[in-house]
Amino acid sequence: MIRGKFITLEGGEGVGKTTNLTFLTHYLGQHNISVVVTREPGGTALAEKIRHLLLDKDSEVISEHAELLLIFAARAQHIKLVIEPALARGDWVLCDRFTDATYAYQGGGRNMRVSTIEWLENLVQGNLRPDLTVLLDAPVEIGIDRARARGVLDRFESEKINFFENVRRAYLLQAELHPERIKLIKANQPLADVQRALVDVIGIFLR
Ligand code: TMP
Repeated sequence: MIRGKFITLEGGEGVGKTTNLTFLTHYLGQHNISVVVTREPGGTALAEKIRHLLLDKDSEVISEHAELLLIFAARAQHIKLVIEPALARGDWVLCDRFTDATYAYQGGGRNMRVSTIEWLENLVQGNLRPDLTVLLDAPVEIGIDRARARGVLDRFESEKINFFENVRRAYLLQAELHPERIKLIKANQPLADVQRALVDVIGIFLR
């Protein structure tokens, strides 16, 4: 059995991840690829409970280490129960956010040490890394306005603009550090152009 491909979709708030995830799912389906669509934090019953804890704006103050460990606890569960089994049976996994989000939000946004994140990444993931990561990038204000228009803000969305500038910077740094894996697509262009770029990027795996 040929192992499936592991594709992740990343970006700040309101860059259009959901719309493009749906588009990609359909596109791969048209190519007769069996796709498991999932998200982080989340993707299993326990990991979704952890997600709820992380996004709850009314919780007590969550320490940075608690936040980081909760994210990796959810990830450990998600990898073991969903991602690895899917890849092993030859399905492709399309995941809305993965560890690049931790480098961006906890590393960039919360200013946590990159070496700590790397240590947990190695512990929890072993050799597992995405085969391809699509990073949707747009100026912070555009994304924040879109997120606000959606309604009530969660614990992360309620952060200040400076936090999101740092998140964006850290995402762009990840793309610079891993140019062969992370493909950057400008999200502040017409949707048709974003989707053309997505098809180009994904085409490498379909040949
Ligand atoms: P989402 O609502 O875009 O799916 O993501 C939920 C929030 O979780 C989002 O604000 C980013 C945050 N997050 C982190 O802070 N670190 C992570 O590693 C992941 C996967 C998400």
